[in-house]
Amino acid sequence: MRAILKVRNLCAAYGDFQALFNVEFEIAAGEVVALIGANGAGKSTLLKAVTGLISPSAGEIAFAGESTSRTPAHALVRKGLAMVPEGRRLFRGMTVEDNLRVCLDRSRTDVEQALRWTIPRIHELFPVLKERRRELVERLSGGQQQMVAVGRALLAQPRLLLCDEISLGLAPKVVKEIYQKLPEIRAGGTSIVIVEQDVSLAKSSSDRLYCLLEGRVTLSGPSCEIGLEAISRAYFGAHS
Ligand SMILES: Nc1ncnc2c1ncn2[C@@H]1O[C@H](COP(=O)(O)OP(=O)(O)OP(=O)(O)O)[C@@H](O)[C@H]1O
Ligand SMILES: [Mg+2]
Repeated sequence: MRAILKVRNLCAAYGDFQALFNVEFEIAAGEVVALIGANGAGKSTLLKAVTGLISPSAGEIAFAGESTSRTPAHALVRKGLAMVPEGRRLFRGMTVEDNLRVCLDRSRTDVEQALRWTIPRIHELFPVLKERRRELVERLSGGQQQMVAVGRALLAQPRLLLCDEISLGLAPKVVKEIYQKLPEIRAGGTSIVIVEQDVSLAKSSSDRLYCLLEGRVTLSGPSCEIGLEAISRAYFGAHS
């Protein structure tokens, strides 16, 4: 399968602190890949490097066959890379509809008309966002706000959607509701990376998974073939 994202030998640091060590990470077009690991393992740092929010100190990132290690974040959005960031980062004081419109990109001509995300399609995906479209976004529940964050990212017409802990702090029922939409998003041609603390959910929702431990990939492979014991070793280290 054609790779939409290839990360090779990636290192990243915050000042003197190295957060990623020689990370190898790859996503095929149409795949759902889960990224797991304990707090501080480097999951968000990897997503930030891929989306151009931080510059890697070494290594290569290629998106859709083009080297993007030095491409600024806004240019990467235009190329089809969108992120649902940790903590959602919605625009408070703005309505649900306006939060969605911020990312609506009508200029992209490389997306087939039928596959293009529009506000009505987001309303079909998450009907509650239609009901509450005129309300200030901060009035919505956490789960509904997360739906806004996903919808907003989709309106950028991503070829690759990176979701950083979309289930954090949400009730299991809402988490299920959001995760149930992933196949529909993927069916539209979007590859997906989910950073997820719930290992069982990560495993059952993805084709392949990667585990990070202290900035290094300690496990990767098809989600259905990797057992929970192997995950536990990779997640906590060999001494657990
Ligand atoms: N802006 C920053 N400045 C300095 N160190 C940072 C910064 N952001 C993250 N780090 C450190 O880099 C390491 C990786 O952090 P990162 O946020 O990528 O982890 P994570 O796997 O996303 O964790 P979590 O599950 O808590 O979100 C951690 O040790 C963290 O303390
Ligand atoms: Mg994180």
